[in-house]
Amino acid sequence: MSKSLQAIRGMNDILPEQTPAWRYLESTLVNLLDGYGYKEIRLPIVEYTELFARGIGEGTDVVDKEMYTFRDRNEESLTLRPEGTAGCVRAVLEHGLAGGGQVQKLWYAGPMFRYEKPQKGRYRQFHQVGVEAFNLPGPDVDAELIVLTWRLWKKIGLADAVTLQLNSLGSSEARAAYRDALVAYLQERFDQLDEDSQRRMTTNPLRILDSKNEATQAVLVGAPTLGDYLDEESRQHFEGVKARLDAAGIAYQINHKLVRGLDYYNRTVFEWVTDKLGAQGTVCAGGRYDGLVSMLGGKATPGVGFAMGVERLVLLLETLELLPSDLNQAADVYICAFGEAAELAALTLAERLRDEVPGLRLLLNSGGGSFKSQFKKADKSGARYALILGDDELASRVVGCKPLRDDSEQQSVAWDALAEHLAACLQHA
Ligand code: HAM
Repeated sequence: MSKSLQAIRGMNDILPEQTPAWRYLESTLVNLLDGYGYKEIRLPIVEYTELFARGIGEGTDVVDKEMYTFRDRNEESLTLRPEGTAGCVRAVLEHGLAGGGQVQKLWYAGPMFRYEKPQKGRYRQFHQVGVEAFNLPGPDVDAELIVLTWRLWKKIGLADAVTLQLNSLGSSEARAAYRDALVAYLQERFDQLDEDSQRRMTTNPLRILDSKNEATQAVLVGAPTLGDYLDEESRQHFEGVKARLDAAGIAYQINHKLVRGLDYYNRTVFEWVTDKLGAQGTVCAGGRYDGLVSMLGGKATPGVGFAMGVERLVLLLETLELLPSDLNQAADVYICAFGEAAELAALTLAERLRDEVPGLRLLLNSGGGSFKSQFKKADKSGARYALILGDDELASRVVGCKPLRDDSEQQSVAWDALAEHLAACLQHA
């Protein structure tokens, strides 16, 4: 027998019982982004490899180890996007969206691809909602982005489940000076570092700060900190971000070791972290990248943004049982019809109700069946009312309207009064 085909490891189907939670999260966030004036941009999933190599940086894990890169039939090197910022900047440049200092506030959503070791909360195809703002150099927009995410946490009940880690990486010059100091310090203790960190000494020394290795962390205790190397302008910028977060009542922890895994950041970086998901606890992360646009060939243009991991947030909502209970309720009303004539009447009645009751979720029984079987289907659908239409109802132009979720009596409702009756019942429920 031939082996049955399976999805690729780390790339998941999102099944019908899961999609309502995804839609709940995504639509809540999208409504919020609308309210802050961010506009959607849709970007390709595949880009030239060079975009990520230049944008995210050679020497990062993402570029060196995790990209899905292939040659197309034209021998061009293409890559499935591992993140959205580089592609967004490419599009902004290509279409002149930030030309002449124009402010752009954008968001995108969709799958990203990284060849990582799959585990809970970490996948090879995962989904992000990302937000990017251009030509806003001040700390006000950094704070606005964090305030916006905070509003989302409050709206979906996660405010007590996440904490904000904050840092400033300073200017690229300050970062370079810090990097030299850190390398000098670690060079003297090279033998005490884990193998990965030893490798990073030449490729990306700041990432050593992130190491999970205990011996390396012990070495880092006495290391110089990034905060001591901040240039004056970055320091003031960071003070501006903190003052706004204080004003908005958002608590944060300054984490001098937070450097992020992508090279394009400067000044503000932040992560929202939870301790409820095990090792993969970062649910949202971002920061400022004032040098990225020019690095990709454009005029110097400030940029700042973040991305949320949709899988991790859905997992967190599930774990904490914070999803609204009616998410999987697919219908408000289920129409049962018995006999050919009643089925025809039910079809026209259903279409009339769809016209007259906006937003009504109505299931019309298909495939016939006995009273018992249709009723069973009505119950299973999660509908709140079954509408019953047989020969008697047809003759008197009424339907039996049976509440399915409480003990109240079945009522007989005239077809002409049905839309109004249902709208009222559904509103009161
Ligand atoms: P990132 O930290 O690489 O940043 O990813 C952002 C979020 O995507 C993470 O915090 C996490 O929730 C989710 N994520 C990342 N990798 C995986 C994975 N393998 N499986 C599941 N979820 C994952 C960026 O991508 C930046 N582009 C964010 C940004 C936007 N910075 C400025 N603008």
